[in-house]
Amino acid sequence: MTAQFKPEKLSEGALPEVGEEIVWVAVEQLRLGMFVHPLSRASFLLRHARDLEAIRASNVGGMFVDLKRSTGEKPERGMSRPIKQPKPIPPQPASSVSTAPAIVRSAASRRAAQFDRAAATLARLRVPVRALLDDVRLGKAIGGGAVAGIVEEINASVADNAAAIISLARIRDSDSFTYAHSVAVCALMANLARRMDLDAGSQQELGIAGLLHDVGKMLIPKTILNKPGKLSIAEMEVMRSHVTRGHELLKKGGNLPQAALEVCLSHHEKMDGTGYPERLFGDRIGLAARMGAVCDVYDAVTSNRPYKEAWSPAECLASMFSWRGHFDEDILSLFIRSVGIYPVGSLVRMESDHLGVVVEQYEADLTRPTVRIFHDIAADTRIAPRDLALAGDAGDTIVTREQPRKWGFDDWDSFWPQLVAA
Ligand SMILES: [Fe+2]
Ligand SMILES: [Fe+2]
Repeated sequence: MTAQFKPEKLSEGALPEVGEEIVWVAVEQLRLGMFVHPLSRASFLLRHARDLEAIRASNVGGMFVDLKRSTGEKPERGMSRPIKQPKPIPPQPASSVSTAPAIVRSAASRRAAQFDRAAATLARLRVPVRALLDDVRLGKAIGGGAVAGIVEEINASVADNAAAIISLARIRDSDSFTYAHSVAVCALMANLARRMDLDAGSQQELGIAGLLHDVGKMLIPKTILNKPGKLSIAEMEVMRSHVTRGHELLKKGGNLPQAALEVCLSHHEKMDGTGYPERLFGDRIGLAARMGAVCDVYDAVTSNRPYKEAWSPAECLASMFSWRGHFDEDILSLFIRSVGIYPVGSLVRMESDHLGVVVEQYEADLTRPTVRIFHDIAADTRIAPRDLALAGDAGDTIVTREQPRKWGFDDWDSFWPQLVAA
């Protein structure tokens, strides 16, 4: 077994304290009086037994419960998984809760500039990241120097506006999948490391680990890698070998951080010991690999593949919470804090009967992001985009998250960034 990566600040039991404002409650523990956020429908106060029965009859594993808006008994200890207590919102226009037009406008133009910069970073990195992956395909070893500059640039973009690079990297075709997946997991890892208050060195190491976690896939035949539908048992074995083959390759490279080797080998391990290649159990899986598992799955299922349609980020988060035994729950809670309950780019329906796109969210209140309204449902017409900071006195609220296809947005992932830039 490989040595485990353990940053000093996150030694055993040292995960940041968790708060009690929004908690995840398993479906069998839901009670009348709880204010629930089902994610895929409107939030509501559980008043009627028939609603509770309907939820229990559905296949959800549980729901987020807002304790502040609940009227019933608080969940007992041990029956809920609290989400990390938010940090206070820093006093900057980006997180403004004011609806004063000038402030909203300046936040919007700042955001548009950040999205432009993130798009430029992604375009610029395409050549060096592809060259790196091509080298792997040709059997060349990867040295630390080749990746450090790439990851520094991604890290800088994460510091500028993490949601911008994470959500823009989700836009991909089959040709650019491995490139975009590598960059996205790098950005998600760096962002998660920042939210865990890890130092800059650890952020860089975990970013490198994210970028290189799937290098072994470069050595897997494309007929298997891109095969639509189910793989045979033999093909599955070949596919799974990407972790050991990638690990061997990174070891040859020499001067790569331990976290990169660990994540490459162990990002498909599961907390209940049913993963691969070593069927490691619980904290025998290194912290970096436990972080990598969450970031990898989130990005893989929220992006389109040649053979399947993407899940929305919100659907993905709800499912990840319901897969018991798969992920480290503390890390998953922190991860949700880092990407939000309504991740940037989500299409939402408002109480005012408008459609909007989530353009910014705040750790202090995951249920009340800033939404750019662009469509009047009653009049069935596009309107001039305007921003609503729901954390302020916006006079409106999100009713439900919507499927873009239902509203005729067949290429939503390309469409919404244009709205942000408008
Ligand atoms: Fe993988
Ligand atoms: Fe992956």
